[in-house]
Amino acid sequence: MIRSPEPQVASFTADPARSTALPGYLYSDPAVFAEEKRRLFYKSWQIVAHESELPQAGDYVCATIVDQSVFVLRGRDRQVRAFFNVCQHRAHELLKGRGNVKSVIVCPYHAWSYELDGSLRAARATPNLPAFDPKEYGLAPVRLERHLGFLFVNLDPEAPSVSALAGGMFADMARELPWLGDLTFNPAYSFTEETGSLLQANWKVMAENCLECYHCGPAHKAYVDMIDVGHYELTRHDAWMKSSAPLRRNDNSAYHVGPEEPVQHNVFWHLFPNIEFSVMPGARALSAFYFTPVDAEQTRISWVTLTMPGEQLPQDRLDYLGKVLWLEDAAICESVHRGLKSLGYRRGRFVASDDHANISEINVHAFQRQYAEAMGL
Ligand code: FES
Ligand SMILES: [Fe+2]
Repeated sequence: MIRSPEPQVASFTADPARSTALPGYLYSDPAVFAEEKRRLFYKSWQIVAHESELPQAGDYVCATIVDQSVFVLRGRDRQVRAFFNVCQHRAHELLKGRGNVKSVIVCPYHAWSYELDGSLRAARATPNLPAFDPKEYGLAPVRLERHLGFLFVNLDPEAPSVSALAGGMFADMARELPWLGDLTFNPAYSFTEETGSLLQANWKVMAENCLECYHCGPAHKAYVDMIDVGHYELTRHDAWMKSSAPLRRNDNSAYHVGPEEPVQHNVFWHLFPNIEFSVMPGARALSAFYFTPVDAEQTRISWVTLTMPGEQLPQDRLDYLGKVLWLEDAAICESVHRGLKSLGYRRGRFVASDDHANISEINVHAFQRQYAEAMGL
């Protein structure tokens, strides 16, 4: 049998041009995934809803962070709080999906009830229970921060704030998008935990796919007709990265963008580990999409879009993004996921030459480096 010679580069290093990619087993091994839960998903900020989804007191939305059910709920004082979705009696889940809690949260199992601020209101047959203080049995709170109306939660009480990690990213968005503050949640273009897609791919495959445009030419023919990939720019910051490029042609094979339309470029901001914000050419709109792993080999995609109040996005844009670009990327990710498990795949390389900076995979390397550090690899 003819074999290729051993590669000259054999390990992951700080220099993207001389580093291998991370090994394939990290994308499907259940033991690795268990470690990712502990080191990444129980410690990073995750978007669980948009505040507009909770207009009234008592409105709630449940969300799952890998295997942790949480909910966000608007109190009578108008404040939104986040809690673990678990009764403090004997651990039944309290709420399902989304809805409105009329007066109190009542556990379906033995009917302990909780106020909207999470304090225990009543526990049947406990007045004479020895050493039982209801104050000790309120719901377990979860940290919550609000940015652009998105509700971010973090299961780690010690984690640095979103502002500390990504204040620069939100400032950059505000610079790029002067109308950012006018956008509102548009349910017509938002797909959440219940309605989003499920992909047969590890979440990191999807994150990495968003971080380079080396694949755009071969895989997204219409996209490269619309976007000037020759002027793609990639930058890296501590917890976030950015890629952006100008529009190439108003009339192109993706969708029409009028020269008078307010957005004439395309920007992606990636917030480590699994959140992506994007602005496409055309109307004023910002989408957040986030990949929540179900397990090592399946990922749920939620996609939330903010537009100008009540604005409808053109159908050709929606058709291109939802029925062409997304399907192209989904197929790529599922194929790469299968390939990463192939016995015939050795550790690949990053294409990161300075003379082709626009299509560099330098941000994929930066993602893998950040991942390796977080995982203690
Ligand atoms: S588990 Fe909730 S009341 Fe018993
Ligand atoms: Fe893509």
